[in-house]
Amino acid sequence: MTVDYQGLRDTFEAAGQGHIFAFFEQLTAAEQEEFLSQLAQIDVEEATKTAKKALEKHGQPEEACAFEPIPEDVIVDVENNRNRDAWFAMGMDLIRKNQVAVILMAGGQGTRLGSPDPKGCYNIGLPSGKSLFQLQAERIRRLQTLAATDGQDAVIPWYIMTSGPTDKPTRDFFTKNNYFGLNPENIIFFQQGVMPCFTHDAKFMLEGKGKLAVAPDGNGGIYGALHKEGVIKSLKERGIRYSHCYCVDNCLARVADPAFIGYCASRNTDCGIKVVPKSHPEEPVGVVARRNGKYGVVEYSEISAELAHMRQENGQLAFGAANIVNHFFSTEFLERVPSFAHELQYHVANKKIPHIDTTTGEFVKPTKPNGIKLERFVFDVFGHSNAFSVLQVSRDDEFSPLKNAPGAGVDCPETSRAAILDQSRRFIQKAGGHFKDDTIEIEVSPLLSYAGENLEAVSGNTIQRSGILTNLEDIALAL
Ligand code: UTP
Repeated sequence: MTVDYQGLRDTFEAAGQGHIFAFFEQLTAAEQEEFLSQLAQIDVEEATKTAKKALEKHGQPEEACAFEPIPEDVIVDVENNRNRDAWFAMGMDLIRKNQVAVILMAGGQGTRLGSPDPKGCYNIGLPSGKSLFQLQAERIRRLQTLAATDGQDAVIPWYIMTSGPTDKPTRDFFTKNNYFGLNPENIIFFQQGVMPCFTHDAKFMLEGKGKLAVAPDGNGGIYGALHKEGVIKSLKERGIRYSHCYCVDNCLARVADPAFIGYCASRNTDCGIKVVPKSHPEEPVGVVARRNGKYGVVEYSEISAELAHMRQENGQLAFGAANIVNHFFSTEFLERVPSFAHELQYHVANKKIPHIDTTTGEFVKPTKPNGIKLERFVFDVFGHSNAFSVLQVSRDDEFSPLKNAPGAGVDCPETSRAAILDQSRRFIQKAGGHFKDDTIEIEVSPLLSYAGENLEAVSGNTIQRSGILTNLEDIALAL
């Protein structure tokens, strides 16, 4: 055995986690070896302490919090804003200088969607059959071309965070699809960490007789992973100053949006977020606000009905800036996270965790939550920002998350598909084009247009047939 079995066992016993060795003698030598190498990677004392602390806090009533809306000078609406073009130009300039990267959070297990593949591989039923990954890759390609100088495309490196369950299938999907036309040198996969799963009394759980049950440590696991996996080093080596960080499940994500980058950079922002106006006071979304003086995302369950309905003088909801998990980070900020990481709490998620009962040896598939997963959230760091900025954008154009299985009616493949096709229709109409009738379905490829530009050819013309517009010739064929 390469790992010191007795030493490891003593440490686990001392931390009150000795039960996980219940079946050790029944394992083959190879299984024992594998189990021990899994255990050797865990700081059992620290993990147990973290779980106990999180559970203790979880069971207590929320500390009294003072919530304040975002100050007016920190939030700006991009729609019809007179600075929009200047921000866009500034963002494009940064892209042109190869100073902007994209960081994708794609480590989730997508349990609600229920697909066996990572969410990014999901085909939302568009006429083109494109997956979420492909839509996002093509937006990057289009921006790289838009920012080209002397015929040379700009480079927007794409850092893709996966997790144990999504890593291999994600990499395989990119290889199989030839990286969607991007240079593989500029696509960098990195894995987030895992946390052991715990019972409600902070005991480790076994997924198999020789395997601990573990789960990805939440999308806030990104900060630790960026350091551990060498991403910060890579950002610095490439001269990246700013990153756009977003979730894989939003088919409308405006990847590396120059207007957002320019807006944040023009304000020397270290940490920024895009929001959309809440659709109604009771919409169950997290909102950006200040909690005891610090920026953060306040979950809908945390604020009273009175605050949820409160309006400002201009009539807008005081707590109406809904989080769409689109962030801006300066490289300096990302580098600084470890200096305060110890202050970031883990959140408790009650889950049904299949496991081996250590007293009977039986496999249990629970029907109700029997344990917890510990997660961090990407927005947990906001309170440590020195220059926070919020950009309000249009929900129709930027946010349609894929959370639920087909047929759910909300945040599902059908709503994602409709969001893309409706946006394509708006792009055409805004460019002065018309449709023969309402049955015509047009899908504008991101390779043709990133955000509605480059469609002048439709102006004054009527689209006669449904189809996919990938280049200017396609437009001529559709008329
Ligand atoms: P969600 O919290 O919606 O989780 O993730 P999910 O895995 O997509 O779906 P459910 O809850 O299991 O049904 C929001 C975003 O955060 C990423 C996801 O990939 C998604 O882009 N995420 C989530 C991670 O990168 N890592 C995690 O550990 C959790």
